[in-house]
This record gives sequence, structure tokens and C-alpha cells, in this order.
Amino acid sequence: MLMTNFLRERKSVREFKNKKIDVDVLSDIKVYLESIENEENNGSVRFSLYEYGEKLYNELKGVGGYSGVMIESPHYITLELMNNQESSIISSAYYMEKVITKLNNLGIDTCWVSIGNVEQDKKLQIFGEIIGEINYILAIGYGKARNPFVNDPISDRIGVEDLVFIDKIGNPPEGDELENRGLDDLFYYVRFAPSAFNKQPWRFLLKKDKVNLLIKYNDKEKPSLMDAGIIMYYFEYLANSIGINSKWELIKDMVVVEEDICYKYIGEFKL
Ligand SMILES: Cc1cc2nc3c(=O)[nH]c(=O)nc-3n(C[C@H](O)[C@H](O)[C@H](O)COP(=O)(O)O)c2cc1C
Repeated sequence: MLMTNFLRERKSVREFKNKKIDVDVLSDIKVYLESIENEENNGSVRFSLYEYGEKLYNELKGVGGYSGVMIESPHYITLELMNNQESSIISSAYYMEKVITKLNNLGIDTCWVSIGNVEQDKKLQIFGEIIGEINYILAIGYGKARNPFVNDPISDRIGVEDLVFIDKIGNPPEGDELENRGLDDLFYYVRFAPSAFNKQPWRFLLKKDKVNLLIKYNDKEKPSLMDAGIIMYYFEYLANSIGINSKWELIKDMVVVEEDICYKYIGEFKL
């Protein structure tokens, strides 16, 4: 089966060279961000390019990123969410991954950076007039050379047998089931999608002619809708590359609890 392995090669880059992106490429990126906002078409997300990353880095040092470990890069893209609807959060992450694919195709490396814990006053000081909420930004630039023999400990992935349920939550695929349906590569590669804290909360409930995306969480946390939007983008991309040309349809207000684990139904995809 012909299946791109672009997801396997796609990695977060946390150390960037001190090299700016060419101004012409930066203006192409700006045009692309505008086109993505238009494609999204609901006005629920705004992407802005911060060309002068140094200022932003200095302001967010010690407060942005996991436990205040801010990622230093020559430029950043901010994701501004214009409303708090679930569908907007999901679609903002979906489209940010589309932006990342474009950047990777231009040879540019990226890392999502969480800034949800940064105080609102500080954000206003950094970003000026923001109408919506900025909880995530993307560090962009050219990554330093990586040692191919050292595996990043936070890049590990769960197995396909933990990712996919057949017909019923908790029921793993058996034998050649996925292969016989031509879905083995799709589920193998989609696991390489990024997720916040590498939690990989996505689960797929596979039925005869459709698949449901579920997000797993416990009663002390909220389901990660950002991670949902990200995996939806990659699932759709990979499915389309093997000739399954459906689109996700969102499911509202459906949560199932199994053995103290909550599963939020996010969407349905016809196979
Ligand atoms: C919504 C989101 C927020 C993230 N925030 C951060 C962050 O603040 N700092 C960081 O170093 N990595 C961050 N990451 C990157 C993830 O930790 C990373 O994608 C995951 O560990 C898997 O590694 P990989 O992207 O190299 O495959 C974030 C990823 C996502 C999807």
C-alpha cells in the first residue's frame, strides 16, 4: 500500500539555529496564513506571524512552555482563538497542523508551545490588541542537527492495539483484522501525530463502515480538544492518501465512562 511516512518523520524541534527565515519566505508564510483563515471560514481562528522572535522569547522566558521552559526560535506563529466553542478549538488545532505541514514542506521546523498558564496582563503586554485567547504558539525556524541515535524520551508512542477498539470500547483488534480492511498503515502512522505532553489521548472506535474518534481523559482533567483537532487533520490526510475521501463530522455532547475512564466522542468518519 502506498502511504506517505511524513508523519513518522515529523518531530517537534526544540533547539533552533540562530538563523532567520528569508524575508520572501516569511511573506509567503503570511499569505498562506491568510489563506488558511479564509479556508477555515468561520472566523474562529486567527494566525499571526511574529517575525522578531527574540522579543517574544524574552517576554515568555520562564513562563511559556512546559513548566516555564520556553522554546527559543527566530520567529513564532500565534494561534488566536476567537471564541470558546468546542468546534472552534478543534478546528484551530486542525488548521495549525495544516500550517505545520506547509512549513515542513518549506524545510522549516516547528514546535507547539503552550502558554495557557501565562497571565492575561502579560499576554496583553506581549501581543498588544488581542481580541481572542492565545494559549498556544508555534516556534518556527531551522532546527539544529539532531543525533539520530538518541531517541527523544517524550516522543514514544502507544501501540496500535491500544489505539483502536473494534465495535466496542476496550475491545482491541485481533490478528490481521486491520490489515484485511486495508487500515493497518493508516492507524500505524497516525500515532505519530503530536499531542500536548505526548499524552496521546486519542482512541478510535472502528465499526463496519465508519470510525469514531474518542478522546480519553479522567475525571480530574478536561478532554483535550486541541489533540482531537490535530489527530483529525492527520487521519483525514492519511485516509485521503489511500483513497478514502471522507471528512470528519463532529459529534456533540456524548461521553461514555468505562471503568472510571471517560471517553468523549469527538467525530465520525465514514470509511
Ligand atoms: C497542543 C500542544 C502543546 C504543546 N506544548 C508544548 C510545550 O509547551 N513545550 C514543548 O516542549 N512541547 C510542546 N508540545 C510538543 C509535544 O510535547 C510533542 O508533540 C510530543 O511530545 C510528541 O513529540 P513529537 O512532536 O516530537 O513527535 C506541544 C504539543 C501540542 C500538540
